[in-house]
Amino acid sequence: MPNVSNPFSFGSPVSGDRFDDRRTEVRFLVRRIAAGQNVVLTSPRRYGKTSLLVRAVAEARKKEHARVGIASLLRCSSRREVAEEVTRAVIDGALGWMVGTAEQVTERLRRLPRVTPTLEHEGWRFALALGGAADDFLLDIRRPIELLADSRLDGRPVCLVLDEFQQIAEIDQHLAGFFKTVIDDLPGVSLVFSGSRRHMMERLFVGSGAALKNAAEPLSLEVIPEAVMTQFLVARMKSAGRVLTGPGARLTYRLMRGIPHFVQLLASAVYDQDVEVADEDAVRAALVEVLTRQRADLAARYEALPMNQRKLMRGLARNPVRDLLSRESLRRLEMSPASAQRARDALREAEQIEFDGQIGWRVSDPVFGRWLRYGLELDLGAAIPPSSIEDA
Ligand SMILES: Nc1ncnc2c1ncn2[C@@H]1O[C@H](COP(=O)(O)OP(=O)(O)OP(=O)(O)O)[C@@H](O)[C@H]1O
Ligand SMILES: [Mg+2]
Repeated sequence: MPNVSNPFSFGSPVSGDRFDDRRTEVRFLVRRIAAGQNVVLTSPRRYGKTSLLVRAVAEARKKEHARVGIASLLRCSSRREVAEEVTRAVIDGALGWMVGTAEQVTERLRRLPRVTPTLEHEGWRFALALGGAADDFLLDIRRPIELLADSRLDGRPVCLVLDEFQQIAEIDQHLAGFFKTVIDDLPGVSLVFSGSRRHMMERLFVGSGAALKNAAEPLSLEVIPEAVMTQFLVARMKSAGRVLTGPGARLTYRLMRGIPHFVQLLASAVYDQDVEVADEDAVRAALVEVLTRQRADLAARYEALPMNQRKLMRGLARNPVRDLLSRESLRRLEMSPASAQRARDALREAEQIEFDGQIGWRVSDPVFGRWLRYGLELDLGAAIPPSSIEDA
């Protein structure tokens, strides 16, 4: 067999033939970008927001000749860092200002007097000078976006994508309102906000008192449908010269509840089983391997939780419940109403648990959930029998 690398990837955004479908969502985003409209994209973690954005941006650039910058606020913890990241996204990504001779670049950067570019291994970084008049950096966030808006004079659509936007709420409470004024002052610039932690995003965009209420059209990203994703898994495996059976692909999807990151993670472990034909048994064996490989991390994650949250996680991993505070649930969990409620709120805030309309409260991470169910009680060294893994 030729030496091919694992056809599945997880952990960072995917592109090319490692990216599957999302055609409807890509089309929606490209249309909004071209029309200068705002969108707010939300999903739980690991559903594929960033991959989708990268794909949509590439298409908007190619087909609509749009100028688009992508900023990620993940690592921003101050207004200054937001300003630097937005500057990078606009200058380097959308306007392409960093190409040309040194003189040309310097000339263009005159329009941002406080900005000093440095080339680092991930690309350009734009550091902002401290000092000067009002050092709240709001003007420094605004200026590059205005430059982007000005560039629109030649008729090309312009857009700024702000990934991990939920972070804004943690930086300070006025920043969201500030983005609202930017939107109001710069019609025609499409702003695409994207974030996990849906309830946080909702606090920013929905409901009375939300700073960005009605400012953007919502797009909530769901899992990729089973039929589409399983076809993708089978085709990827085939591209590496192996067979993944239909039932094997469906089990991979179901065990990971269709969440793209986890589906790819499990599929990758199935590939590593090194069998010519991967069926359901191979999938179960692969899951056991994942649980075994990750068990130190999973245990550490569990041990980092306070007692009552551990209890609730364990209980929900065994049996999801609709009404967590019912007498029956509390009896089974052996928790008081107050402590169950506190644990629920904290775990939901941290996205460790979620409420599913059909199933009720459950552990969000399917790998962690499985470990809580099968791995927790095992002594170190003991193995989980693959046959004990239930289908869903
Ligand atoms: N369209 C897709 N086709 C196949 N796999 C995908 C797709 N989108 C996402 N994935 C899988 O999910 C993983 C996470 O994708 P991505 O980083 O885009 O998600 P995200 O929603 O931005 O996550 P986070 O909330 O952590 O920022 C990828 O590494 C890949 O394994
Ligand atoms: Mg992301």
